[in-house]
Amino acid sequence: MYSDIVMAHFNNPENIGVIEDADAVGEVGNPQCGDMMTFYLKIKDDVIEDVKFQTFGCVAAIAVSSMVSKLAKGKTVAEAKKITKKTVAEALGGLPPNKMHCSNLGADALALAIQDYENKQAARV
Ligand code: FES
Repeated sequence: MYSDIVMAHFNNPENIGVIEDADAVGEVGNPQCGDMMTFYLKIKDDVIEDVKFQTFGCVAAIAVSSMVSKLAKGKTVAEAKKITKKTVAEALGGLPPNKMHCSNLGADALALAIQDYENKQAARV
């Protein structure tokens, strides 16, 4: 049912954890399945230097979180904004149709964290 890439990320997720002094945080939940994702970003000079996540969810949600963290790390904020649910699903070698909402969750959590960063930047000016 799942691709080898999904299973590899589920079995060995990258960047699990919390960044205590994160510059931005994005949290989302899906009320239907009850899964939750939180992304923490450390950003310097508009580059995402570190990404960590905490996910309580299904196999796909964990693989998605790991892939999103991997895709976002080292990118500029502008580049990271281009990471969509489609980018994530493709990078994972595809997701079963009933699991596409799991990749939405990852893209949404990252987008919310970036939004949090931009709100803080705007408040600083
Ligand atoms: Fe809800 Fe996967 S079943 S995120």
